[in-house]
Order: sequence, then C-alpha cells, then structure tokens
Amino acid sequence: MSERQKLSPSDWWATSIIEMKPGMIRYRGYAIEDLIGRVGFAEMVYLLTRGELPSKPAAKLLEAALVAAVDHGPQAPSIAIARMAMTCGVGINNAMASATNVLGDVHGGAGEQCVELFNAVAARLPEGARDAAAITKAVTEEIEALAARGIKHVPGFGHRFHHLDPRAPRILSLVDEAAKEGAVSGLFAAIGRTVEDVIAQRRGGKRVPMNIDGATGVVFAELGFPPPLCRGLFVLSRSVGCLAHAWEESQSDYRNKGPIPRDQIWTYTGPGPRQVPE
Ligand SMILES: CC(C)(COP(=O)(O)OP(=O)(O)OC[C@H]1O[C@@H](n2cnc3c(N)ncnc32)[C@H](O)[C@@H]1OP(=O)(O)O)[C@@H](O)C(=O)NCCC(=O)NCCS
Repeated sequence: MSERQKLSPSDWWATSIIEMKPGMIRYRGYAIEDLIGRVGFAEMVYLLTRGELPSKPAAKLLEAALVAAVDHGPQAPSIAIARMAMTCGVGINNAMASATNVLGDVHGGAGEQCVELFNAVAARLPEGARDAAAITKAVTEEIEALAARGIKHVPGFGHRFHHLDPRAPRILSLVDEAAKEGAVSGLFAAIGRTVEDVIAQRRGGKRVPMNIDGATGVVFAELGFPPPLCRGLFVLSRSVGCLAHAWEESQSDYRNKGPIPRDQIWTYTGPGPRQVPE
C-alpha cells in the first residue's frame, strides 16, 4: 500500500486553505465573518492563493489587473463562445466553462508564459544588477533562447486588434506608482519595457507594444505569483465578461446562434462534386 493510500479519510483532502466545522468557517485562519465586509474580492483571491492577506498597495495592483481583463467584446473568442454557447440551451456555467476553456497560450493565457519569461530574465541578471545595460543583455539572451526554441511571438506583446493596447500603459503607470512608494521592486516593469525595446530592435525599429497579458504579467511578477497561477487569475477576471455576455445573450430570442450569420456561408476548399466509389 502506498503512503497516500495509508492516509486517513480526514487527511485525504488535507488543505491549508479552509477550516470548517458546523457553524465555523475560517480561511487561512481568519474567520469568514471577520473577512466579510472588511476585505475586497482581490484581497480574498490573494489570501486564498498565496496564504496571507496582501498589503494595501499589492491589493490595489492585483485589483487593477483583475479589472483590466474582464471583457474584450465578442471579437474575443472567449466572449463570442460564451454568447454562442448560451444560445445552444446550455446553463450559464456551461457557457462560462466553454468560454474560459479557450484561454490558451495565444488568447488570454499568455500571461503565464510571459511571467515565465520575465522570471527567466530576472534569473539571468547578475546578483544585484538592475541597470539598463544588464537588463537589456538578459532580455536579449532570453529572447534569443525563445527564438532558438522556435518561438517567434514573444508572449505578452502584440495584439490582433489594438495597435496600442490602452490597458497596458495604465497598468504600468500603477506599477510605477507602487514602485515609487516602495511597495514593489519595479524590476519587472523595467524588464517588460526592455522586452518591448528589444523586440523593436530585432524588427528594425517596428514596435510590438505590450498587451494586457504583458502588463498584467508585470503586476503578477512584481507580486511574486507563480506563472501557472497567473493564467488562473486571467481566467478569473475574464469570467466576469463571460458571465455578463452569456447572460445578455440569454435575454435575446436567438436559439442556436452560429459563429457567422446563417446566410453567410464558408468558403469550401475541398474537391469538386464526385461519385462515391463502388
Ligand atoms: C496576439 C497576436 C496573435 C497578434 O498577432 P497578429 O496581429 O496576427 O500579428 P502577426 O502574427 O501578423 O504579426 C505581425 C508582425 O509582428 C510581429 N509580432 C507580432 N507579435 C509579436 C510578438 N509577440 N513578438 C515578436 N514579434 C511579434 C510578427 O512577427 C509579424 O512580423 P512581420 O511583419 O515581420 O512578419 C501575436 O502578437 C502574438 O501571438 N502575441 C503573443 C501572444 C500573446 O501575447 N497573446 C495575448 C494577446 S492579448
């Protein structure tokens, strides 16, 4: 019998997150009735995922990142899928799950890889080095390492729709404020900006601006979130938009609304009409 199989039933789902008895609920040691009305949703997310309540400036940054990504309209696959799923007669939870399932490496989920990149750059910096030349060298080496692995699109940069993603500069300005107050180091904001500069240098001066995943990636890296959690945080945020769009679509009289209007048919690229062989 393995060590795991020897566990008592009470240890089977052992967790440091929540303690519960009839009439008692504690998250990480704090009574729920003390948290309710005192902490915001972002602080609760931080407490549950990180084990401690965040400082006020950290909570403000996390809140900003969660607010920034809630919705990107029905041209974002996640939002379109939430709406389309709803018209198929599924429940709102199914619509939200279908939508968040497409938050992958290219759409919405790039934050995880972006934080991995920022952390890898930070790990390349010589002990204590924070100057622009050292950061540029570390970023260049890391982008070259990505290219050697066949990754041409640097995660967290570029956007299908916006030439300049309006969310990114605002988020970075909040990180700058927090760094000035000494609440975060500001190192990852510098790394993010340098990544943008190095991409431009490699493209003969053509810039590929930081997108929402890059900017929230800066926040998450500054706050020390492990990369896989960053994707989850984006999913949490985007779930709000998926919920709102699924609900709005459910109020329409559409049933089974396809991805394009039914009178617009796709381009067929296969063989012409032919006989089924005998
Ligand atoms: C979001 C994304 C799919 C948009 O792609 P797109 O608008 O179709 O851009 P293209 O792939 O046509 O790229 C246009 C040019 O910019 C370059 N480019 C685009 N994004 C780039 C990036 N992240 N890193 C480096 N170069 C990039 C392309 O290499 C291409 O260069 P070329 O004109 O010399 O061939 C793309 O930028 C990307 O994959 N980014 C990384 C993933 C990411 O952060 N996703 C979250 C988006 S919110």
